[in-house]
Amino acid sequence: MAFPAAFIDELIARNPIEDVVGQYVTLKRSGANMFGLCPFHGEKTASFSVAPDKGIYYCFGCHKGGGAINFMMEIEGLTYPDAVRSLAKRAGMEVPEDEQYQSRYRQQERLWALNKEAARFFYSQLYAPAGEKGLRYVQKRGLSKSILTQFGVGYAPDSWNALVDAMRKKGYTDQELKDADLVGEKNGRIYDRFRNRVMFPIIDVRGNVIGFGGRVLDDGTPKYLNTSETIIFNKRKNLFGLNLAKKSKQGYLILVEGNIDVITLHQYGFDCAVASLGTSLTEEHAALLSRYTEEVILTYDGDEAGQRAAKRAIPMLEKVGIRVKVLKMRDAKDPDEFLHKFGPDAFKLLLEESSNRVDYQLTAIASKYDLKDDDQKVRYVQEAAELICTLDSSVKREVYGTRVAEKAGITPEAMKLEVNKAFKRRLNREKKQQEKIDLAPAQALQPKLRSVRYQNMRSAMAEEAIIGKALRQPSLLSAAQGLHSGDFSVPLLGNVFAQLKERYMQGLEVSLGVIADLTAEEMSHIAGIMQRHSEPGGEDAFRDCVQIILREKQVSSVSSDEDLLALRDKMKESKGTKG
Ligand code: UTP
Ligand code: MN
Repeated sequence: MAFPAAFIDELIARNPIEDVVGQYVTLKRSGANMFGLCPFHGEKTASFSVAPDKGIYYCFGCHKGGGAINFMMEIEGLTYPDAVRSLAKRAGMEVPEDEQYQSRYRQQERLWALNKEAARFFYSQLYAPAGEKGLRYVQKRGLSKSILTQFGVGYAPDSWNALVDAMRKKGYTDQELKDADLVGEKNGRIYDRFRNRVMFPIIDVRGNVIGFGGRVLDDGTPKYLNTSETIIFNKRKNLFGLNLAKKSKQGYLILVEGNIDVITLHQYGFDCAVASLGTSLTEEHAALLSRYTEEVILTYDGDEAGQRAAKRAIPMLEKVGIRVKVLKMRDAKDPDEFLHKFGPDAFKLLLEESSNRVDYQLTAIASKYDLKDDDQKVRYVQEAAELICTLDSSVKREVYGTRVAEKAGITPEAMKLEVNKAFKRRLNREKKQQEKIDLAPAQALQPKLRSVRYQNMRSAMAEEAIIGKALRQPSLLSAAQGLHSGDFSVPLLGNVFAQLKERYMQGLEVSLGVIADLTAEEMSHIAGIMQRHSEPGGEDAFRDCVQIILREKQVSSVSSDEDLLALRDKMKESKGTKG
């Protein structure tokens, strides 16, 4: 839903960018701007800037940027409306919502509150006389008092009504207890669903308790009882421990299978561990992970099921742009057991070892071919060589090459020749690709954004300039009367232009921070444009850009080939004069 522009204006005014960012980043003033360490990428020198007068932030290192709303979207992984809501809450403002949303949101808020109360109840029970068994169990598992507190671990007493009674006293209805999946029902009476179990609250990235996993204290079944789907909980979309791991400074996330693995890892200082909630990794999980990290280390159990799970997860993570490493468990079935047996330093070694997944890929390649068949054996060797030639260390190429040679029954020397051939083929391919790029120089100016392609480079550059200049000097927009969003060749830029123009016409504030309905990626792109157009261009330059866009729109309906060729010649010319 769209929020009224006036509301957004007030929201921005009441949430100064330096205060919003200041909650997450320590900022130091330097002239008109403030600087700090970028919260979005690990760095040691401050390349993250905040411009209080413009209401924006921009990182010169990772090029993320935008206004206060966008900052909240990025840092908390929120949608646009939710970022607006969180800022409204911060400033004590009422959000104008439509009715349907209001009722659903109220219902969600009640369930969040109920779950939080339930978590508090379970937590208190762990240290009450009724929880003695539970406390003994978690102590036996080697979990420290402080880590138990950090994860809010609790105990559901061996009773049919302890939780029900406690929650009714707090004013929650039976229906709400049912909606939260905290109770079962028989003959019209509800009873505690979790009994005599250690309770792990599942907390989303915003800090809401959305569900529970409850583990038996012995070998009983089911080992875990989990919250099934509710209006606030979906195990396909959430990860255990991400609320804490997202703050980690490690620069990668460790993905494990069990809740207890996550907690033990955090206890030993590996504060970037998360687990999927008893399901195999989903595409939603991958997307969620990609909001917080560019690298994931899979540490699946050493058994066959674990290996299969890893193989499934790799392509899913790679698809969303995450680098994947696989940690091979040795002499222990999972990280929890490993840490207790061998300690954190040994685990660090495993992490270091995980730095490539070549053996995984080689196994995957081998499984495609029948190595008893000579023809297929040749193809196996060739495909393996393609992979090995991409390794950047000669030792690695030697080690893996020898391994493949053994498997295929050829000599290491023959394998080495194959790898060299594969390398030459790759160079050739790259050269051809480079030639293609040279033929289309416009390629280099394409935005890094995956969702946006510039089809008409000339127009796109003018469109960028219009946006950049208008953001710097909104009054220029009065020279854009004749220009409409439909004239833009890039829909994203057209959309932004329309918003800026509309606001300018209405006498509202025009700045990066007030642009609505963009993804975080898109917003960063716009911030980058603004950064690139920092020179004061003046009205003439602005008018020129308007003319270019309008002309390109006419021309584009005729032919675009001619322009590309002209552009190519021009590039060649300028190259020639330089070289
Ligand atoms: P594990 O069996 O590895 O559990 O299952 P664990 O957490 O490591 O516990 P310990 O070390 O054996 O005591 C991995 C995850 O799979 C889910 C849970 O989320 C668990 O953490 N699971 C497991 C279930 O949902 N239900 C089950 O019955 C078992
Ligand atoms: Mn375990």
